[in-house]
Amino acid sequence: MSASFLSECKEKVLNRIDVLLSGDSKITSAMRYSALADSKCIRAGLVFASGNLNKKISTSALTDMAASIELMHTYSLIHDDLPSMDNDEMRRGQASNHIKYNEATAILAGDALQALAYETIASSLEISQPQKISSIKTLANACGYTGMILGQQYDLDAERNEYNDIKKIHELKTGKLIQAAVTMPHEGEEEQTNQLAILGEIGIDLGLAFQIMDDVLEASSDSKTLGKNNQSDMLNKKLTYVSAYGKKESVDQAYALSNRCINKLENAFKNNEAASLIALAEFMVKRKN
Ligand code: IPE
Ligand code: IPE
Ligand code: MG
Ligand code: MG
Repeated sequence: MSASFLSECKEKVLNRIDVLLSGDSKITSAMRYSALADSKCIRAGLVFASGNLNKKISTSALTDMAASIELMHTYSLIHDDLPSMDNDEMRRGQASNHIKYNEATAILAGDALQALAYETIASSLEISQPQKISSIKTLANACGYTGMILGQQYDLDAERNEYNDIKKIHELKTGKLIQAAVTMPHEGEEEQTNQLAILGEIGIDLGLAFQIMDDVLEASSDSKTLGKNNQSDMLNKKLTYVSAYGKKESVDQAYALSNRCINKLENAFKNNEAASLIALAEFMVKRKN
């Protein structure tokens, strides 16, 4: 994909987060440490790429939605790395939040980033009132007890062989937030029901493909390239696509999902309108970190 598209999205969203997260308290510093660290900003990219298909939404509104989703995602990573969860000491190429600060501060930084994610949408001057309501609802549904958190609980249960549906784990812990990034720019005002349904299907498939490749990369790459520990799944005895299906079958499944999304996008949107979203669907499985 054009690397410049994602780097432009990243610049917009990190600049926005830099403004949103101001102050010099210890907790602000802990939040900024993780939220502004080097990352792919793929969810922000999805918000912009999908949002470009909706002519009625402004770039500034998309920037607030993208910032909100990236803040939410950063919170989930800080908590995911905690000793009681995956116990990972490296994230985004630097010490994990609880290593740099301490466990209690990392918990609080995650909590506050989650609150800020909702506040970013609620207080946006760019997102319309109906879109604010639908965005907050979508975000809460994606990240709450029937979404990401349920996925994280199943992921932990699977370490003790108390849960074994790996597809469900991935769709919930990762797919739902990625799906929210794809659908959010189309919700609220004058929804195009058919289009929204297709984007919803694409979002969940891309999320699953993305997490499958996360498993594959962890089993094939090194910590420096990934910016995180490549032994984490093994040490935690995680159920992953690689442990369930092996590397080749996992890669095949991820590519099949990505291709299915690309076909749907090509059929649903004419004249190359969905080009950025298609490029991201490819990048999500071809990425190296
Ligand atoms: C890592 O997400 C955690 C998963 C849900 C797979 P990313 O690979 O998007 O991490 P960053 O945001 O680029 O650090
Ligand atoms: C992270 O999943 C999912 C969430 C944070 C919700 P993983 O635990 O598999 O991701 P990494 O490998 O730590 O990035
Ligand atoms: Mg985890
Ligand atoms: Mg983890």
